Amino acid sequence: MSDMPIVNLLDTGQELTRTGARVSVLWQQPESLVFVARGREYRSEFHINPSDEVMYMIKGEMRLHYRTPDGKEAVAVVPEGSAIHTPAGIPHSPRFPPDAYLMVTERKRRPGEIDRFLWFCPNCDAPLHEEKFVVADYRADPVSKAYKNFFDSEEFRTCKACGTVMPSPDK
Ligand SMILES: [Fe+2]
Repeated sequence: MSDMPIVNLLDTGQELTRTGARVSVLWQQPESLVFVARGREYRSEFHINPSDEVMYMIKGEMRLHYRTPDGKEAVAVVPEGSAIHTPAGIPHSPRFPPDAYLMVTERKRRPGEIDRFLWFCPNCDAPLHEEKFVVADYRADPVSKAYKNFFDSEEFRTCKACGTVMPSPDK
């Protein structure tokens, strides 16, 4: 690949829809990690990224749920063709349909940095579960791994505060 790759974003998104893959990593450099991702209909967790993120909606609209500094849930609506900057450390949950896709720019993680994925109880909003990953290679799809661990464990999906069990989607 050239040192200065040029990628057609619409083609990349359409290829994801055609193949059913969720993520296509365009390149990974210390200061520039860029991928195109399809929506995940089951997305419910909040990602805490040690890197800033810029998300650009190529096709479709995103509802970016996030947590304010006082812990409340809020939603930023990002229309098709628009971008949002999410600074490092803000818990955020990008929600958009599987036939929509976006481009995300981050940077590769530095030594010792950890990505966190948090779920909250759908009934009482108490913290439900946390997954932690060292993201060395984004092609390993850390989001899918976090969900597999969460969905595979009823204990992880059971609220310690109120007993509600978050359902696992049928696959
Ligand atoms: Fe609960």
